[in-house]
Amino acid sequence: MNPCVFVIFSLLLLHAETIISDQLGGGDDNGVIMRKCSDKERRALLDFKARLQDPDETLSTWRAEEEEEEDCCKWRGVTCNNQTHHVTGLDVDRLGLVGEISNSLLNLSSLNHLDLSYNSFHGTISTFIGSMTRLRHLDLGWNQFNGIIPRSIGSLTELTSLDLSYNSFYGTIPPEFGNLTNLQYLYLRDVGRCRVENLDWLSHLSHLVHLEMDGTSLAKQNYWLDVILSLRKLSWLSLDGCELSQVMYPYSSSFLNSSSSISFLSLRNNNLTSSMYRWLFPLTNNQLHLLDLSSNMLDGTPKYLGNLCSLEYFAFDNNSVVIKFPDFLNNLSSGCTSLTLQGLFAGHNRFIGTLSNEILTFKNLSILDMSSCSLGPRFPKWIQKIKNLTSLEIPLSYCQQWNFRHDSSGVLGHVAFSINISQSLFQQLQWESTRFIIKFWQQF
Ligand SMILES: *[C@@H]1O[C@H](CO)[C@@H](O)[C@H](O)[C@H]1NC(C)=O
Ligand SMILES: *[C@@H]1O[C@H](CO)[C@@H](O)[C@H](O)[C@H]1NC(C)=O
Ligand SMILES: *[C@@H]1O[C@H](CO)[C@@H](O)[C@H](O)[C@H]1NC(C)=O
Ligand SMILES: *[C@@H]1O[C@H](CO)[C@@H](O)[C@H](O)[C@H]1NC(C)=O
Ligand SMILES: *[C@@H]1O[C@H](CO)[C@@H](O)[C@H](O)[C@H]1NC(C)=O
Ligand SMILES: *[C@@H]1O[C@H](CO)[C@@H](O)[C@H](O)[C@H]1NC(C)=O
Ligand SMILES: *[C@@H]1O[C@H](CO)[C@@H](O)[C@H](O)[C@H]1NC(C)=O
Ligand SMILES: *[C@@H]1O[C@H](CO)[C@@H](O)[C@H](O)[C@H]1NC(C)=O
Ligand SMILES: *[C@@H]1O[C@H](CO)[C@@H](O)[C@H](O)[C@H]1NC(C)=O
Ligand SMILES: *[C@@H]1O[C@H](CO)[C@@H](O)[C@H](O)[C@H]1NC(C)=O
Repeated sequence: MNPCVFVIFSLLLLHAETIISDQLGGGDDNGVIMRKCSDKERRALLDFKARLQDPDETLSTWRAEEEEEEDCCKWRGVTCNNQTHHVTGLDVDRLGLVGEISNSLLNLSSLNHLDLSYNSFHGTISTFIGSMTRLRHLDLGWNQFNGIIPRSIGSLTELTSLDLSYNSFYGTIPPEFGNLTNLQYLYLRDVGRCRVENLDWLSHLSHLVHLEMDGTSLAKQNYWLDVILSLRKLSWLSLDGCELSQVMYPYSSSFLNSSSSISFLSLRNNNLTSSMYRWLFPLTNNQLHLLDLSSNMLDGTPKYLGNLCSLEYFAFDNNSVVIKFPDFLNNLSSGCTSLTLQGLFAGHNRFIGTLSNEILTFKNLSILDMSSCSLGPRFPKWIQKIKNLTSLEIPLSYCQQWNFRHDSSGVLGHVAFSINISQSLFQQLQWESTRFIIKFWQQF
């Protein structure tokens, strides 16, 4: 080919490409390096904004007119692919936005990250959301969305993280969620007045590491424990207020032997009684770091909980039955938990007996919360021996006999308060109406 003809041909081709890409409003990524986002995507974002109230003018950089603002990749909250300049991320969380989601977002065809959390979005989530199939991260939490959760979310099979927490949905949690097999994080905490018809879909989410379903009743979910135990990667489970005490058959015998890899487990406010420790057993193993059994009807802890060799924090507040305190402590200190426990939160309980030297068995304890417990009446001697404490909350009834004052150096001045707290360790003393809080500097 004649070189001159070749050059002209190339120029024509380049020209044609420019025209085509202009017509498309910015072009595509077929070898053409774009310097800014496409008109189509810019218009989609402006349309998204047009449906919203933005009282704090947080999206003031999103403007149609001015030349230097033309590139929507530079707008607040917008992320683009640095090669193609397609919009890939939209993070407009915590901006005080009010309104509904515009379907113009569908024109952001490369969007893989959408975070609208902590705003006041309302209205229903339209089924069009199921067409945003590139999404890997979808966070709609802490808004006022209502209506039903669209089944079409089950089409977003690339999702690794989905958050619908703290909204006002009703109806069924769609079983189509079982199609989201790449999910690792699923946050369905207080989604509204929702129910689960059949929990089988959950067992398909084999990559799940983090699950929160607080506030949704699992009362009809016999064998829910089998489903949870089938999630081999699960390390965080929060099922507060799920009416677990009403389940008739919480597990099948095939799982008596299995154990989970859960390290954070919260089962607050489920009306659990001590007979239910039987099925709790497979969930509590040597990977557990935090266990929260507060606000139930438990009258103690079984000895096996004293054998958890990685348990660091145990919350057991507000169990509304009478508990024998010395037995409680003995059970919890019967094994290696006594060496690992760093925080014991046991306030607002109806303990009987005294808080005695047993507490010293917990060698590593740094936070002890016994506020509003009816223990006493004398300030315990053991407190002088406890080494690692950085925070102590005890009932005021212990303290009423004392006459506190701070001397000029900030050290506790009264002889009755016989703890030898050296000035460097003592941080803060606080009276509240029902409790007394002493904070120490962390000892290292
Ligand atoms: C483009 O983004 C990728 C990751 O998102 C990054 O590693 C790379 O350095 C970026 N390139 C330029 C030219 O900024
Ligand atoms: C998407 O973009 C096209 C072309 O710019 C436009 O005609 C259409 O109305 C847009 N769709 C939505 C839902 O905004
Ligand atoms: C999604 O889930 C529903 C109900 O579980 C099922 O009927 C459907 O076949 C699934 N779709 C895909 C694409 O897997
Ligand atoms: C539990 O494990 C033991 C030995 O590891 C085995 O003999 C027994 O059959 C298992 N039980 C169940 C119900 O799987
Ligand atoms: C808690 O369980 C007891 C029986 O163990 C039952 O009488 C009570 O109604 C339950 N409370 C709630 C709120 O479910
Ligand atoms: C204590 O537990 C009961 C349920 O047993 C619950 O209704 C109440 O809100 C809890 N109180 C606190 C302060 O958590
Ligand atoms: C102590 O553990 C035993 C055996 O697990 C149990 O029967 C008892 O109720 C527990 N007592 C308390 C107060 O935790
Ligand atoms: C005691 O607590 C510290 C952190 O405060 C931790 O690093 C250490 O491993 C704990 N000791 C044991 C035996 O668990
Ligand atoms: C707790 O005290 C022991 C010895 O009294 C010490 O070896 C350990 O490091 C302390 N742990 C923390 C968390 O301070
Ligand atoms: C308090 O502790 C300091 C330093 O640890 C020590 O010198 C002092 O004698 C102690 N005082 C009492 C009353 O135990």
